[in-house]
Amino acid sequence: MVSKKRILNPMVILALILISAHFIASCSQDNIPLPSKSHSDQWINPESGDFHGVKVVTIGANSCKSCHGSDYSGGKSGKSCHRCHANFPHPSQWLTPESDQFHGNDIRNNNWSMTECKKCHGDDYRGGSSASSCFPCHAEPAGPEACTVCHGNSEHANPPEDLQHNTATFAIGVGAHEKHVKIFACSICHTVPSSFGDATHVDLPPAEVNSAWSWDRTTGTCATSCHGSVLKWTEVSDH
Ligand code: HEC
Ligand code: HEC
Ligand code: HEC
Ligand code: HEC
Ligand code: HEC
Ligand code: HEC
Repeated sequence: MVSKKRILNPMVILALILISAHFIASCSQDNIPLPSKSHSDQWINPESGDFHGVKVVTIGANSCKSCHGSDYSGGKSGKSCHRCHANFPHPSQWLTPESDQFHGNDIRNNNWSMTECKKCHGDDYRGGSSASSCFPCHAEPAGPEACTVCHGNSEHANPPEDLQHNTATFAIGVGAHEKHVKIFACSICHTVPSSFGDATHVDLPPAEVNSAWSWDRTTGTCATSCHGSVLKWTEVSDH
């Protein structure tokens, strides 16, 4: 027993030294030099008048930058806004269509989900608690869910444009749409959604084509007796 203690003690002491050295080091590196609590208890309770969202809608988010960082990714508070809402505060190029930060690209990159947007802009996109409506720019009755917002153009919902903004017929999303929709309804090739949220509509890419045509995406052809010979969807000529 006695000899065991003599062997262990120096090791225990060494461990204690190492542990306290670690604590001293982390204290001197403390990157949250703020009071233990910076906000009210109700700060993340949406039902409360003290809710942080109400504050930001009223005074803006600039005053949050000093602690949460100039890009809101944490700063000295170490708490990023984006942990709870991935795209708010909105990036500076949120309204610039040419930018990667453009809101349309954010929605595309999120498999076209607008569920997050509704939390603040309202289920009807007319502003909700954010008081910032989508309708000044997306003025159709369905707002950003109108059929021409993500594909087609102001005249029609079929590509061109396709979902990636392609207009050339060699893009598979565009192909021979124009030729076909002159003669046929969309429904000969697709299950047409009656609204954006229909279950058959946005799932995993690519878009579905009715199985009757045995559409083969790799060859860009379908098994149809309509054409005299096998035609390629992405090789559109004047015939
Ligand atoms: C004086 C520094 C400071 C300012 C200014 C500040 N915060 Fe904070 N915030 C903190 C710190 C530090 C925390 C970490 C938790 C705590 O101490 O309350 C925090 C936590 C939060 C949380 C909870 C985060 C989580 O993950 O639980 C939210 C939400 C928040 N702040 C929003 C805001 C908003 C919105 C503003 C601007 C209106 C703002 N804060 C301004 C320092 C600040
Ligand atoms: C701990 C999670 C959390 C963090 C971190 C957080 N928020 Fe929020 N915030 C919420 C919740 C929950 C809502 C209510 C809406 C929702 O369900 O998404 C919300 C809503 C908002 C709203 C909408 C208010 C409205 O009524 O439309 C704003 C603006 C907002 N937050 C700003 C910020 C800012 C700025 C930061 C960073 C400084 C931040 N939030 C960090 C949880 C958080
Ligand atoms: C200040 C004007 C403006 C506001 C407000 C606005 N948008 Fe847009 N949005 C645009 C423009 C412009 C485009 C189209 C750019 C293009 O076709 O190249 C667009 C495109 C889109 C697209 C299609 C993206 C794509 O690449 O096909 C979606 C989806 C969208 N917006 C959703 C929303 C939602 C949801 C809101 C409200 C929460 C909203 N927008 C508010 C201007 C706006
Ligand atoms: C946490 C709340 C919140 C979420 C989530 C949110 N927004 Fe916002 N949004 C706001 C607030 C508040 C404003 C007005 C102040 C500002 O621009 O920061 C705004 C402004 C905008 C604007 C600028 C409007 C104008 O006329 O200048 C557009 C566009 C927009 N949001 C689109 C979207 C889209 C698209 C989504 C979903 C991908 C989304 N927002 C998600 C709160 C939010
Ligand atoms: C916010 C963007 C968006 C809006 C708004 C939208 N669509 Fe779509 N649409 C898509 C996407 C993404 C696909 C590809 C779906 C997939 O991956 O299966 C698609 C595919 C389609 C297809 C091909 C068949 C299919 O389901 O794959 C048709 C037809 C279609 N949409 C019609 C419509 C109509 C009609 C509306 C209006 C009621 C509409 N879309 C509104 C994004 C949108
Ligand atoms: C003759 C058949 C045919 C008709 C008619 C047709 N489409 Fe398509 N559509 C296709 C094919 C083929 C694709 C490519 C599918 C793929 O990517 O695998 C496609 C793809 C799409 C896509 C996805 C585009 C992308 O970027 O991926 C949309 C949206 C779409 N069609 C909408 C429509 C609408 C709306 C109509 C009616 C106005 C219509 N289509 C009529 C055959 C057709």
